[in-house]
Amino acid sequence: MADNHLVNSLEKENCQFKKILAIQKRIGSERQLDRLMPLIISEISELLDAERTTIFLIDWERMELQAKFAEGIVEQEITIKLKMGIVGWAVLSKQEISISNASDHPYFNPEIDQLHDFKTESILVAPIINKQGEVLGALELINKDTGVFTEHDLEMTRQDAAKLGLEDNLQNIAAGRIEQMIDCLVRNASCQRGSLFLIDADSGQLMSVFAHGLDGSAISLSLNLGVAGLVAVSGKVINILDSATDSRFDQKIDQLTGFETKTILGLPIRNYLDEVIGVIEIINKCNDSFSGEDIEIMDGLSSMVAITMDNALMLAEQERQFRSIIEVMAASIDAKDTLTAGHSTQVTHYAVEIARELGFGESDLDVIGVAGLLHDYGKLGIDDQILKKPGRLSDREYSQIKEHVTLTRSILGKMRFARKYRNVPIIAAAHHELLDGSGYDSGILGREIPFMAKIITVADVFEALTSKRHYRQAMPKDEALALIEKDSGCKYDAKVIKALKNYLAKLQVNSQ
Ligand SMILES: [Fe+2]
Repeated sequence: MADNHLVNSLEKENCQFKKILAIQKRIGSERQLDRLMPLIISEISELLDAERTTIFLIDWERMELQAKFAEGIVEQEITIKLKMGIVGWAVLSKQEISISNASDHPYFNPEIDQLHDFKTESILVAPIINKQGEVLGALELINKDTGVFTEHDLEMTRQDAAKLGLEDNLQNIAAGRIEQMIDCLVRNASCQRGSLFLIDADSGQLMSVFAHGLDGSAISLSLNLGVAGLVAVSGKVINILDSATDSRFDQKIDQLTGFETKTILGLPIRNYLDEVIGVIEIINKCNDSFSGEDIEIMDGLSSMVAITMDNALMLAEQERQFRSIIEVMAASIDAKDTLTAGHSTQVTHYAVEIARELGFGESDLDVIGVAGLLHDYGKLGIDDQILKKPGRLSDREYSQIKEHVTLTRSILGKMRFARKYRNVPIIAAAHHELLDGSGYDSGILGREIPFMAKIITVADVFEALTSKRHYRQAMPKDEALALIEKDSGCKYDAKVIKALKNYLAKLQVNSQ
């Protein structure tokens, strides 16, 4: 009896697994965002038997939630105040909520139902949270066909919401999720081992991202060797029924690892351009060879891996593209004056090292790096005659020089700085503000100046003092530091100066 129950529950789990894989495959083959979102919504509705599924995205500037795609009412975009209703509660508290009778709930906002002539009964909401823990929006399911959403529905919705908020990178994939995927695959296909290889475009080899039996160490395989290489080159599924007699299997691999390979199933992983980017391999089906059903499951999984890889590669490419634009912008400031060339790069170097001393994480170091490179961008709009003037500046000329900060703010304000970089224009434009309010161009006081700007200020002054200028010679580093320290806590932040001092001391020790 107990065994029967176990078999039934395993079968149910396996059936659900295949259903999810089939959905993943359908979603995976759609790369157009406008078509992808409604597809995700209808698939979730179908899987969880909900009448309506909606994805809400937050507009922080307006403090509103916008329903991007609401099935059945696609034409109308719903906008609701963030602080209102059940979705607002889930977003602000970062918690899931499941309600069986919505109209009795104190947070329920009946206006949307009235507007669309709809009756909400049961409701399930999960916040969409990215890797940094920031809430991006919420996934809402309405009216379960049985009347009440279950714990299982809650878990599935939570997972879907997590997928929508995913911003993975290659390290994350290698460290966790791929391993879980392969484990799941091996369990479901009742086999001994599973591996995932990706083609390294530089070396032209297959690199292992995860492989059972390797204890985390990576291996590389030549593309013209073994089953994995053959799958990668041919782009075809290869099913080895008996490795001992099949010449496509390279016996050396078993000799090297001491493992006995009997059966192998290898599948190519394709990106959205239909190019092969890697191979999934599973080994030794228990008491059998791999079946057509195994191939089907593997196919679904390989499309999941492909989406994850594509996302990671695209994000990395976007970041590279963004950095190259920023570097070109910084170089264009340098091109204006050969004597101050390298100033932006050097200020960035000091600012990043100060921030590192202060314990900033890599993500914040990236932001300081970009703000540092662009802090003087407004100098492009200042007259060369004034910028390069060897002698003392008149009051009028000095006030013109000061305008470079205003220009930095207005030019960078027109650029789109996404996500973590959104405060770059504010940080960059505050690099001449001082703690006592005597700085420019806003003259704001210490507590109003962004801390990252305080770091760039000290890095900027230190770099300027220790470099040759049209009107003076370069100052030795210890003298420059002593001069800045005179204004510690008054004009410049004391913690920032201390961090610069620590960095310079380390630099000196290392150079000895
Ligand atoms: Fe400046």
